[in-house]
Amino acid sequence: FILVLDFGSQYNQLITRRIREFGVYSELHSHRLTAEDIKEMNPSGIILSGGPHSVYDENSFRCDEAIFDLGIPVLGICYGMQLMMQHFGGNVQRAKEREYGKADITLTGEPVLFKGTPTTQTVWMSHGDKIIEPAPGFTIDATSSSTPVAAVSNVDRNFYGVQFHPEVRNTEYGNELLNKFVFNVCQCEGNWTMENFIDMEVEKIQTKVGNKKVLCALSGGVDSSVVAALIHKAIGDQLTCIFVDHGLLRKNEADLVMETFKGKFHMNIIKVDAQDRFLSKLKGVSDPEQKRKIIGNEFIYVFDDEADKLKDIEFLAQGTLYTDIVESGTETAQTIKSHHNVGGLPEDMQFELIEPLNTLFKDEVRALGAELGVPDDIVWRQPFPGPGLGIRVLGEISEEKIEIVRESDAILREEIKNAGLDRDIWQYFTVLPDIRSVGVMGDARTYDYTIGIRAVTSIDGMTSDWARIPWDVLEKISTRIVNEVEHINRVVYDITSKPPATIEWE
Ligand code: XMP
Repeated sequence: FILVLDFGSQYNQLITRRIREFGVYSELHSHRLTAEDIKEMNPSGIILSGGPHSVYDENSFRCDEAIFDLGIPVLGICYGMQLMMQHFGGNVQRAKEREYGKADITLTGEPVLFKGTPTTQTVWMSHGDKIIEPAPGFTIDATSSSTPVAAVSNVDRNFYGVQFHPEVRNTEYGNELLNKFVFNVCQCEGNWTMENFIDMEVEKIQTKVGNKKVLCALSGGVDSSVVAALIHKAIGDQLTCIFVDHGLLRKNEADLVMETFKGKFHMNIIKVDAQDRFLSKLKGVSDPEQKRKIIGNEFIYVFDDEADKLKDIEFLAQGTLYTDIVESGTETAQTIKSHHNVGGLPEDMQFELIEPLNTLFKDEVRALGAELGVPDDIVWRQPFPGPGLGIRVLGEISEEKIEIVRESDAILREEIKNAGLDRDIWQYFTVLPDIRSVGVMGDARTYDYTIGIRAVTSIDGMTSDWARIPWDVLEKISTRIVNEVEHINRVVYDITSKPPATIEWE
C-alpha cells in the first residue's frame, strides 16, 4: 500500500483517492509517525503531502528523517519536496510571495515519472517557498519560468519530488505521474478491490471482537446500513442492531429497513416504535433549534434505554467515514464542522468503538454496500437529516402535518425518479411552511396549506444551487400533490441557493 504523510495540505485526501482509483490501497496518516511505525506498516511507497507551512517556520510540521533510510521510495509533493530537499542539503528559498494557479513546466530529458508525456505541460502550483538548487545527488526533471526547480529525482535511491500538485485535476498529466510512481517505482499491484477490502475487514473485525457482542444503531442511512451489513457478515448473530423509529421518517422507510435487515439479512434487530415519545416531547415547541435538540437528545435516551436491556455488549459499531474524521479536524487540518458521528456520543458510553468504514470515502461506501447486497434504495439514499421530517414541518409539529409532508415527499420522490433525475439532484424534498392561503377547488373556496419543494444540486452540502427541474416535471408534481394530499391547495418552488439560504428550511 501507499502511505501518505499529512502535512496539512487541503489536497492531501485527494492523493489517497487518486491512488485508490488505481486499485492500490492508500492511507493518509499524521506526519508524526516514526520511521519505526512506518517500517512496521511496511508500505511500498511513501508520499509526503503539501502543507501550508514554510520549512523555515518555527512550528513547521516535520517528519522523522530516518524515513529516508528505510529503503522505501518517496515522492515529495510541494512542501513535502521542500522538506526532502532541505534534509538532503538543497537550497530552499524563502518566498516573498505565493505562486498560485496554472503554470507551464518544461521537462529536461525524459524523467522517470514523466515518461511518455509532452515536453511542455500544464500543472497546478500552490506554494510559497521554492527550491533554487536541488540537493546533491538529485537532478532537475522540470522547470518553469517562475520555478527553476519544478521537479527533481534521485533515481538510484527512488526519491522524487514535484513542486506542483499532481493530485489536482488541473495538472494535465498528474494522474500519469502518480500512476508511474505507484506502479513503476513502488511496483504496487493494482488488485485492491471492494471484495478484498471486505475480506480484510471481516478478518479484522473477527479478530477484534472474538466471541463478544457488538451493538449498532441503525438509522436506515447509507453509512449505518453498510456498517451493519459488513459486521454482520463478519460475526453474524453476535451483532444486535437497534433501529429507533422516531415517527419522523419518510414514507415506507422503516419498512424498507426492516425488510432488508430482518427479512433479507436475518439480523438481530430491535425496532423501537418511539413515535409517541418523540411527539409528546415536541408538543408546543416551535423553535427550530429547540426541536433539533429535543430530537437529538431523545434519540440517545431511547437508544440507551434499549441498550441497557441487553447483556454483555462490549462494542459499539459506528458508520464513521474518512471524511467525518478529516472534517472534524485532524491534527493538521482546521475543524470545519463537528460531525454528529464523531462528536455526538454520550460521554459515559461504556463501549469500545468499531468503525470499519473510517478509511473509506462516501462513494467507496456505496460500492461496498452494493457488494454486500444492500439494496439500491438504501445505498443511493439521498442525505436525510437526523431530525428527519421534524425539521420539514416548520414550527410546531403535529401528526397531521407530518403526514402531509410525508405524502407530498413520496410523490416528489416518485416523480423525480420517473423523470430519471434521482441521481443528478443532490437532495429533493418537500417542506410544510406554517402558513395557509386561499384557493378554489371544485367551485368552492379553500383555506389550506402550502407545500414548498426544495431540490438542490451540490457537491458536499456546504454550498448548493437550486436544481433546474424541467417545467413539465414540476407541473406534474404540483398537480399530483394538490390532488392527492389533503389540505394542500398551493405548491411553490424554492429558487434560492446556499448561501444565502440553507438547504433545509429549519
Ligand atoms: P443545511 O440545511 O445546513 O444542510 O444547508 C446541509 C446538509 O446537512 C443536512 N443536515 C443534517 N444532517 N443531521 C444530519 O445528519 C442534521 O441535524 C442535519 N441538518 C441538516 C442537510 O439535509 C443537508 O444535506
